[in-house]
Amino acid sequence: MVATLEGLKGRDFTRVADWSRDELERVLDLADELKELQKRREPHHLLPGRTLGMIFQKPSTRTRVSFEVGIAQLGGTGLNLSAGDLQLGRGETLKDTATVLSRYLDAIMIRTFAQEDVEELARNASIPVINGLTDSSHPCQALADVMTIRERLGPLESVVLTYLGDGNNVCASLMVAAAKLGVNFRAATPKGYEPSAEAVEIAREAAAESRATIELLADPREAAAGAGVLYTDVWTSMGQEEERERRLRDLAGFGIDDELVRLAKEDAIVLHCLPAHYGEEITEDVLYGPQSAVWDQAENRLHAQKALMALVIS
Ligand code: CP
Ligand code: NVA
Repeated sequence: MVATLEGLKGRDFTRVADWSRDELERVLDLADELKELQKRREPHHLLPGRTLGMIFQKPSTRTRVSFEVGIAQLGGTGLNLSAGDLQLGRGETLKDTATVLSRYLDAIMIRTFAQEDVEELARNASIPVINGLTDSSHPCQALADVMTIRERLGPLESVVLTYLGDGNNVCASLMVAAAKLGVNFRAATPKGYEPSAEAVEIAREAAAESRATIELLADPREAAAGAGVLYTDVWTSMGQEEERERRLRDLAGFGIDDELVRLAKEDAIVLHCLPAHYGEEITEDVLYGPQSAVWDQAENRLHAQKALMALVIS
């Protein structure tokens, strides 16, 4: 192991905004190293005997499996705590839950609705709390995203990353991570679907330091032109199912298809955090096409989160 594991023990990872560029780069560097070790099947039990509790108040495929496999590969155990089985679902407070779980576990990963719930859990837990997605952010996804971009395209400072569609939770965390790490970020969204003002403000501040650019556009073609990365996510996020028809109408024309990919750089890559809806935000052809890095991106959830856990769990 080249990387040192000291310095970030005990830290929460609830928002990208709270981590510095150097701290994020430490996660990415360790993730690259752990990916290599895993590829060579070299054991790396950096967290022997530790337990990660995973609270899910929304469904998940990638987050659940990558965290559970990840902690096992580090020599620890993952405990799946579906919200319906916890007393939390019957009104036990987040404060009491955090206090009790801190006596059993070494870290908590939570996927829920309100960002404030994650922050409250983190304030009351004496162990690290990791955000596995809220309505307004998805920081673990952003780690895997920038890891994948770096892996495929090299130094991040020269990259133009274009996000198309709904300026949602995934867009917000990606934009802030990009701004911190010096990636030039463009979002093309219909009116009313722009990324949140709070995320834009945080990203603009970070971009001023890293000298990255943040552009908010309304034309997908203009945004895709010359980009090195095209990124999209579902148009109807978990919890928004009742808005689906309206969203399909409003977001039509913002999907990634072959024609849009041709506007980007010749060697551009396409990313999608998944799950995908073919023919809405992305075509099946593009998702499985030669420029798709989506499956590496999904795999990198595992490596990035292993690095994060190895750094924050004592
Ligand atoms: N990208 C992502 O978080 O996938 P899951 O919802 O399957 O965890
Ligand atoms: N924006 C999507 C991401 C799923 C991983 C959602 O919140 O449902």
